[in-house]
Amino acid sequence: MEFQSIKGFKDILPGESVIWQQLEAETRKKFSTFGFEEIKTPIVERTELFSRGIGQETDIVSKEMYSFEDSKGRGLTLRPEATASVVRAYIQNRLYQAFPVQKLYSIGPMFRHERPQKGRFRQFHQINAELFGDAGPKSDAEMIVLAVFLLQDLPLGPLTLHLNSLGCPECRPAFKKTLQETLADKRDHLCADCAKRLDFNPLRIFDCKLETCREVVFEAPVIVDFLCGECSAHFHRVQAYLEDCEIDYVLNSKLVRGLDYYNKTTFEIQTEHLGAQNAVGGGGRYDGLVKLLGGPDHPAIGFAMGMERIIALMEMNRTAQAGKPDLFIAAIGEEADRASFVWADRLRKSGFRIEVDYGLHGLKSQMKKADRLGAEKVLIAGDDEMKSGKGILRDMTGKEQIEVDLKTIVPALEDILKNG
Ligand code: HAM
Repeated sequence: MEFQSIKGFKDILPGESVIWQQLEAETRKKFSTFGFEEIKTPIVERTELFSRGIGQETDIVSKEMYSFEDSKGRGLTLRPEATASVVRAYIQNRLYQAFPVQKLYSIGPMFRHERPQKGRFRQFHQINAELFGDAGPKSDAEMIVLAVFLLQDLPLGPLTLHLNSLGCPECRPAFKKTLQETLADKRDHLCADCAKRLDFNPLRIFDCKLETCREVVFEAPVIVDFLCGECSAHFHRVQAYLEDCEIDYVLNSKLVRGLDYYNKTTFEIQTEHLGAQNAVGGGGRYDGLVKLLGGPDHPAIGFAMGMERIIALMEMNRTAQAGKPDLFIAAIGEEADRASFVWADRLRKSGFRIEVDYGLHGLKSQMKKADRLGAEKVLIAGDDEMKSGKGILRDMTGKEQIEVDLKTIVPALEDILKNG
């Protein structure tokens, strides 16, 4: 009998693991510039940690947890997310005693019993970041800047940052009440889960994926109209910091996120290229969770990125890039061949895809190869060009040619290739 992996669980094979390593290395490097340190928590925790932390009415807790009893009858669960575990470790190990502000990251597998589909697995991996001990808008903005910074240099295609505020225990009750009143006579149009949510946790209705429920909340009141003075000022300051850093965002008043612990700022980074699973990452402030889980009243904010989704996008965009070199260097003759080896090396290190000829062939044969590879531009450098110090750069689409100075060819090409 040949065993197969379990549905929704997949192997990361040798050819793929390289890209995972690159993503992890890039993540660790970038986290360290923001002063984050790694924390590794166990994969199994007491079930109650998650049911209390994430919220009983969330999909994660009510439907998706891998829970079981150990031989002593204790309820245990494979972690569906990292935040509750990191909060437990923060409290249990009194991490707040060392520094008032703690910045912790972790990378590892999570488990949710969801229906597997493109971008959705039952075992998946998250890059997770949490900042404890600061309640101000600057730490919200810093976490969002970090989330964007993590993704910005990866070939992921267009991403959109969605931003919302969920208010606080001061202002949310009035919103909840208005929402319940507004939706009361639409109860029959809601799914069975949302009809229950209407009584206990109406914000969760915004999170329902069913079209009928989405229609019901389409014109429902939104939380940002109910924010108290403090929450409103906080939210505006977060936006001002983001604007100062030239980070584009869209305000999305329906973004409630799938976990109950959030208050104030929430955010999600979304793509349009992974079908229904459009969130590459998301997070927000959760000032009440440390206390709720038995710790001191310390504020916190965090986010998590889905690694499978990031890697799927990297692969999609890498394939697109792989089909088309930015430049082919047609070097003819020994001297040009040696020089072009170094040019190619430098340009690749600047992130461009450069192709060369490997066999010291003639110009005609090299141009044919450049054409076959779909190179956008070709740099031609033969003996004559090396002597005069002037190479020829041909645009393969328009077929125009310009003369380029070979002495400063690397910065000149970096400029031309970057700006098209
Ligand atoms: P989340 O939105 O549940 O947040 O998950 C974060 C990311 O994990 C999602 O945006 C998605 O990319 C990825 N993800 C979630 N479920 C799956 C799945 N079944 N398959 C593949 N990828 C998935 C949290 O988990 C919060 N703990 C984030 C946070 C940290 N908030 C504060 N601190």
